[in-house]
Amino acid sequence: MPPRTEGARSDRSGSTRRQFLLGGAVAGVGAVAAIGVDYALNRQDAGTAAPASTPMNGEETVPFHGTHQAGIDTAAQAHGLFLALDLLDTTDRDGLTRLLRILTDDAARLTQGKAALADSEPELAAAPARLTVTFGFGPGLVARAAGSAPSWLAGLPAFSIDRLQPEFSDGDLLLQIAADDPLTVAHAARMLLKDARSFASLRWSQQGFRRAYGTERPGTTMRNLFGQVDGTANPEPGTTEFDSVVWVEDGWLAGGTGMVVRRTRMDLDKWDRLDRSGREASVGRTLANGAPLTGTQEFDEPDFDATTAVGFPVIPPFAHMRRARGVDGEKIFRRAYNYDERPAGASVSESGLIFVSFQADIDRQFTPMQQRLADLDLLNEWTTPIGSAVFAIPPGCREGGFIGETLLGGSS
Ligand code: HEM
Repeated sequence: MPPRTEGARSDRSGSTRRQFLLGGAVAGVGAVAAIGVDYALNRQDAGTAAPASTPMNGEETVPFHGTHQAGIDTAAQAHGLFLALDLLDTTDRDGLTRLLRILTDDAARLTQGKAALADSEPELAAAPARLTVTFGFGPGLVARAAGSAPSWLAGLPAFSIDRLQPEFSDGDLLLQIAADDPLTVAHAARMLLKDARSFASLRWSQQGFRRAYGTERPGTTMRNLFGQVDGTANPEPGTTEFDSVVWVEDGWLAGGTGMVVRRTRMDLDKWDRLDRSGREASVGRTLANGAPLTGTQEFDEPDFDATTAVGFPVIPPFAHMRRARGVDGEKIFRRAYNYDERPAGASVSESGLIFVSFQADIDRQFTPMQQRLADLDLLNEWTTPIGSAVFAIPPGCREGGFIGETLLGGSS
């Protein structure tokens, strides 16, 4: 089976390449030549079974089955919904197995553009728009399965910056539902929650967004609501670095990973009072294109030793990027979503980041980094973690299997 993202990517980069060819032809060779290229491309299409027109984004699918669950190395979709459920007391190990079999079946169908069993609105399933459903197990679920939990699943230590609210924290079963279309996400969420309701109750839900599909070129690093380019220094899916940062190698979690979800409030009203150079210094990167303050392009290597004419570091000691940067082996893969809710009181915004990171060993990779940031990070002036949860993300499954079978056994 081909790796999931490569399939999804080659589809996507194929159409981008075509647009590029066409755009280049129009700019460089003139309209007559462009018509020639267009004609040639259409002729090529005409020779295959595929329709001549470019497929709609709503038709795009991400494979569900595979070694790893989708929704981790998948290019982030525009909309992300995070649902945390608590198992009912009556859900025993067998019940848990039944629940995961049913939800796996739902996810396998919906992500491929097929209606779930007993789908009450089957028409809504027809546009998957790169839908992925990613399952995560909290400590309570692993205990219910009588499985052995990795030590990091016990939870993060308390950090001095935390102001955690129970309505955004913890949970037994996480469903990360993401797609390029919000109606698709809502339908999938409803089907999954309906099928889960005799086994589990909803503990919290968090809705997040990035740029809408088609607003920017695929592969553009996202921006958060501070306006910052957020996600530059991230391992690249498909590389050996990504694989070693993200995937667990042993035990029932082999092929899975660890997930941290931290709802972090961003005080935009206070941020408004900071000038542009202060904003750039707080992270160590420019707002224009995310270049390090010592460079000009987004992906330039930062020079942490560079000093100004008067001898101060160009990237300040308190800059988020300097503080977050881990030593070897202490890396994480970030896949965050923005949130924007109804403001309370005199404030005009209630916004922030659903910070999401994937890493094989949360204790070794994430916790030291978060501790360093809690000790010193200028961004703390404007950001406050208000929710926190960790989940073990089991591996993917093959057709006929179910997510969680390596924990629960495939028999019942
Ligand atoms: C609302 C909270 C946060 C905001 C607004 C934020 C924003 C940013 C921005 C703008 C960058 C620079 C561009 C990039 O490489 O992505 C960055 C880098 C980074 N952030 Fe955050 N961040 C937040 C929370 C966190 C947390 C909680 C962690 C981990 C504990 C973290 C870890 C990192 C890492 C590892 C980098 C890359 C550092 C490097 O250059 O090596 N961030 N963040």
